[in-house]
Amino acid sequence: MRHTSATPGPCLQPAPALSGHLPVLVSGAPDIGTQVLAERLRDAVGSGSPSFHVGEHPPHWLARMSDSGPQPRVLLVVDAQRGIDTEAHRFGLLASQLGIRRLLLAVTGMERMDWREDVFARLRHQYRAYAERLGIEQLTAIPLSLKGDDNIVEPSGRLSWYQGPTLLAQVQAEAKLPSGERPEAADAPSQVSDQFAAHLLWLDDQPLYPGRVYRLRLNDREVDARVSEIKHLLQVDTLERMAAKRLRRDDLAFCNLALDQALPFNAAGECPATGTFRLYERTQDTLVACGLIAFGLRRATNLHRHAMKVDKASRAAANAQKPCVLWFTGLSGAGKSTVADRVEQRLQAAGKRTMLLDGDNVRHGLNRDLGFTDEDRVENIRRVGEVSKLMVEAGLITLASFISPFRSERRMVRELLEDGEFLEIFVDAPLEVCEARDPKGLYKKARAGALPNFTGIDSPYEPPQAPDLRLPAGELDADTLAGQVIDLLRRRGML
Ligand code: ADX
Repeated sequence: MRHTSATPGPCLQPAPALSGHLPVLVSGAPDIGTQVLAERLRDAVGSGSPSFHVGEHPPHWLARMSDSGPQPRVLLVVDAQRGIDTEAHRFGLLASQLGIRRLLLAVTGMERMDWREDVFARLRHQYRAYAERLGIEQLTAIPLSLKGDDNIVEPSGRLSWYQGPTLLAQVQAEAKLPSGERPEAADAPSQVSDQFAAHLLWLDDQPLYPGRVYRLRLNDREVDARVSEIKHLLQVDTLERMAAKRLRRDDLAFCNLALDQALPFNAAGECPATGTFRLYERTQDTLVACGLIAFGLRRATNLHRHAMKVDKASRAAANAQKPCVLWFTGLSGAGKSTVADRVEQRLQAAGKRTMLLDGDNVRHGLNRDLGFTDEDRVENIRRVGEVSKLMVEAGLITLASFISPFRSERRMVRELLEDGEFLEIFVDAPLEVCEARDPKGLYKKARAGALPNFTGIDSPYEPPQAPDLRLPAGELDADTLAGQVIDLLRRRGML
């Protein structure tokens, strides 16, 4: 991890007017000639200014837009026949969040619409109305065709109703104007916080669940972060706001994020380089989201940890034991609660102070509001993880018995605790065995379709890859398995 100074300092993007080489980002869907248009423009200017770049995919597009260096002009590409597509909306929306107030709209494929002025005028009107809602102050639209060179470099006789400049002439004229109303960049205020509100563009096939931990990279720094709340999902085409509990691929949502450490940043509209970030899945290190910071949240800065005289160590000493968490994970009916109960009895008999947290019980109280969707299970384990941590601070040997189907959240609980305090015990019984036992009749209900999202049936279980202990719960009885847990505690010096 690279560390930078405490604040990002002034935005280092030079004011465009002072720059010799102005980039233009030709932005649009891959299948409407975005690339071809960029090449035509590039051929026309050679190595001179402006330089033309292609932005067809949001992550690359955003990376370009938030490069240090002069902020690119945005040239949106739409196809006359297809009309204004979601991509054109999305790029405009992201541009507005980066502080851009001036957009160029190229309407290609005019030849397929018989060069009709009304078609062009309708698209221009439509996008202008959309752009106005984003706070875009100026939208210049230009009709053209990529078939010949109609209105790209040379004016076109077939577009005689069009009186304005060619696309190239317009781009060159605009290159001399500032791109937006961005305040004088060098004075941009810097903020430092471990929480902020941001627009998040979700890119992964696996949905985002609030509470799940991801790796956040911002301005050369890297920290663990989670979405603490999805404020609303933004319907890109209509700008409607909708409630959401998870984010799916291509969703754009306004969210609150909580970071493990405070980071310096700017709002994306003030300084794209220090106001945009990326989220990565932690195991595979795959990119899962791009984010644009709207503003910092103050909450965290007004909270302080109070150092108490009585602490975890003294409580553990008073109990004459090493507190830890025995985390039992496995399918419903595998025997987690039965084994945990036996283990707790033995610990008590040995004079140990214990606490047992069990899915069925905790879900009657603290987690009464949660069901069995993936996002609710993530939140279930997040809360139970925090409770387990408090129990360990109370000096207790804590037994937690939860299906806890996702690796990501089990790892999160492990990381909440100190090294050696979290013991993952995989209560491993095959689905067939659990289903044959079916102590609560739930598998039968699930198979009958009366209980949706049932683990092992239509909801996933990710077995531990390296548990501290694997119990062959399909083969051995509960007492024998409990004995194996006690042995583990002895081996680890807990007893
Ligand atoms: S977890 O997946 O979020 O960790 P948890 O361990 O709290 O689940 O709760 C599991 C218990 O809830 C099961 O033992 C079972 O009795 C009950 N249950 C009810 N509905 C479901 C379901 N759809 N999937 C799994 N367990 C369910």
